[in-house]
Amino acid sequence: MKYQIRCKKCGKVVGDFATWFQQDQQCACGSTYAEVEYFDLPSFPPQAKETDSFQDLYFDFLPIEKRENIVSFGEGMVAIERWAHLEKAAREAGVNCEVYVCRNDQNQGSGTFKDISAALAASVLKEQGVKDYCLASTGNAGTAFATYLAKAGVHFTQFAPSFMDDDSTEAIKRVGQKVVLSKGGYGDAKAEAAAFHKEHKVLISGGNTDPLRIESKRTLVFECLRQMGCMPTVYMQAVAGGTSPLAFEKGFRDLLAMCSEKNYTLPRMVLVQQDECDPMVTAWEKATAAGFPEGWEQQYEAKKNMHTRIGILTAANPGNYPLVAPLVKRTDGTFIRVKEAELPEYGRRMLQEQGVLMGPASMVCYAGFFEALRKGTIRNGDKVLLNTGEGCERSQWFKKEVLG
Ligand SMILES: Cc1ncc(COP(=O)(O)O)c(C=O)c1O
Ligand SMILES: [Zn+2]
Repeated sequence: MKYQIRCKKCGKVVGDFATWFQQDQQCACGSTYAEVEYFDLPSFPPQAKETDSFQDLYFDFLPIEKRENIVSFGEGMVAIERWAHLEKAAREAGVNCEVYVCRNDQNQGSGTFKDISAALAASVLKEQGVKDYCLASTGNAGTAFATYLAKAGVHFTQFAPSFMDDDSTEAIKRVGQKVVLSKGGYGDAKAEAAAFHKEHKVLISGGNTDPLRIESKRTLVFECLRQMGCMPTVYMQAVAGGTSPLAFEKGFRDLLAMCSEKNYTLPRMVLVQQDECDPMVTAWEKATAAGFPEGWEQQYEAKKNMHTRIGILTAANPGNYPLVAPLVKRTDGTFIRVKEAELPEYGRRMLQEQGVLMGPASMVCYAGFFEALRKGTIRNGDKVLLNTGEGCERSQWFKKEVLG
């Protein structure tokens, strides 16, 4: 065995994924928050290799025992590009920095950064002989899991909020998987998924701290070193639940454990939300104004009267804020708000300057970079990484708005 799963609450070792699944993805203490730890992480970086699969390159760093169980569409090895027009915009704002964009829109499965999560989940489920799986998703995770689990021969049901785009529903049905559209929002879809899981004893994806998602997403840390040759000093992303920043931190800890070089620093986490669904930004602003009093990270409210059109970013109740916000604070980062109404304009800018158009959730991150410049969050000498999470294949409405 390469790894074991340890409970983050009581510290007890749970076992491997076989035990984890048998125990309904819970420690005996009742906690569902657990982490994978490896017995013997090899030294970093891995041997150079021509491959199109992150599971192939990072096999020794992932909780799969046999290579033959890897389920892949060639995902995860996406380019991290330097975008000159963003560096120029920074210079015009008086800041000399390097700006890198992680092109998750080019992922091979379904064109989002959920593909690596789904790919590793599919491999582990295949290895463990699991035949049914479900999750609640606003669309990207659902489409990715449907696609990969179909390839692994696992039946999959997605519970979606009523407003999920038809493009995603079609993509899921096309690969022969099931979608259950809720009458309500994302919170309702989550409750329906939990009820289905309980009633039918179908395994469910464990949300933002699911070890399967964290372990795959943490490989971005390794990719930064492989492709940029260094760690970024600023990490930016549109945030909903906050899986990716948590995964980056886990990857960073694993990196320190494998490297003789110990003077790496975690980047400042700068997380972005659109003004129509910005509960984490609001909570952060209140905490900042109050000087971060004892227990500040527990002070957050669900967004009321939400009118966002970005179906992917509709986590109105930021249940993961108590985990994500302390990480942001520890890295000297911040939360930033952008105006949803301005995103089509930013879409035109990206298209004109770079010849690329991404989906609206990615545009939140892109717009966030300009807002960060305005607020003085980006400094001279920074190496900024924008972790853009999706292409615009399944966001035809946004494409129309951008193209007019
Ligand atoms: C494209 C895109 N960007 C951002 C997010 C938010 O991701 P996280 O769970 O890391 O906050 C998601 C997922 O919900 C997404 O699909
Ligand atoms: Zn425990």
